[in-house]
Amino acid sequence: MTQETFTIPLEAGTYYICTCGQSKNLPYCDGSHQGTGLQPLALELESTQTVEISGLPEAKSSR
Ligand code: FES
Repeated sequence: MTQETFTIPLEAGTYYICTCGQSKNLPYCDGSHQGTGLQPLALELESTQTVEISGLPEAKSSR
């Protein structure tokens, strides 16, 4: 399975990271995981920082 890595600056706050690869807004969850049995990963940041998110499944193309 191909996996993507995202390096992104994020402000303080709570973010929901997609773990299913179905999101059209990777690396963020957009609710497309419904029916997969998977849940997003909650990421809570107390300050602005650059975050590297790796190990996410590559977005699946719709055919
Ligand atoms: S869309 Fe993938 S976990 Fe929500």
